[in-house]
Amino acid sequence: MNFKGKDIITIKDFSKSEINYVLHYAKKMLPYAKGEKCTKLLEGKVLSSLFFEPSTRTRLSFESAMNRLGGRVIGFADPSATSQKKGETLSDTIRMADSYSDVIVLRHSLEGAAQLAADFADVPVINAGDGSGMHPTQCFLDLFTIETEKKHLEGQKVILLGDLKYGRTVHSLAYALSLFGVDLTFVSPTSLQMPKEIVDECKELGAIPASTTKLEKVIDDADVIYVTRIQRERFPDAEEYNRVVGTYQINKELLTNVKKDMIIMHPLPRLKEIATEVDETEHAVYFKQAFNGVPVRMALLSLVTGVIQ
Ligand code: CP
Repeated sequence: MNFKGKDIITIKDFSKSEINYVLHYAKKMLPYAKGEKCTKLLEGKVLSSLFFEPSTRTRLSFESAMNRLGGRVIGFADPSATSQKKGETLSDTIRMADSYSDVIVLRHSLEGAAQLAADFADVPVINAGDGSGMHPTQCFLDLFTIETEKKHLEGQKVILLGDLKYGRTVHSLAYALSLFGVDLTFVSPTSLQMPKEIVDECKELGAIPASTTKLEKVIDDADVIYVTRIQRERFPDAEEYNRVVGTYQINKELLTNVKKDMIIMHPLPRLKEIATEVDETEHAVYFKQAFNGVPVRMALLSLVTGVIQ
């Protein structure tokens, strides 16, 4: 397989065997991501890290990944300090980054921004989240986490919980888990259900996702619970946000009868949907999951720049 020059806009750009290929390389990157071994694989390469929206994990793990590979990073996390403030268009900003670097990572509030960037750039563009659209590298690290923690993806009983309407991570993940024959249950308030087009795509891939508003009815049977934050910033109406925030909270009491090896994931940041008392339980893997962004992004950067094949 050759990913050299490939844009990563959506997880749908990848077949099941291509996803497995990326996960295979991510595993190889683990000792380098942890700093146990050193590499100069991307020495001489430059990453443009363009974050038009706030981020902690995606930006820092991409930048850590590039540094761990011996490459360099340019970019910004505060677009108000760029010429966007003077009216520069996204396409012109992308043209500049294209001429200054070997790969571009872009986070933007507008759905479709990453595809637009890919249309203007010759170097590969990696979507680091476009509005309520896709977040494919998060999807890779989520798959990597399940595979690492549960040994395989096929047949796992996975609950996707919370804001399934606006949460971009669950849109990518529902699609990808369907490719791997995962048993999916969607749990959300009625107003934040998984969009019909994504449910239909899952079904086309052979999944038979169940939907419910009642977490307590399904939690004890789950192998994985993927919790999401209610995405306040995507709500057109603050009152609607106030109605649904706090609908679900994972706490120790709720975990009384769950499977001993059930894992709890969250793309983070979390608010109150997972009580901090859960952090100390053997179920909590969300901080490990966030670390997994480093080896996964190391693999992706190495593959799209063509230094590994
Ligand atoms: N999971 C995730 O995308 O986190 P950040 O918004 O902090 O990058």
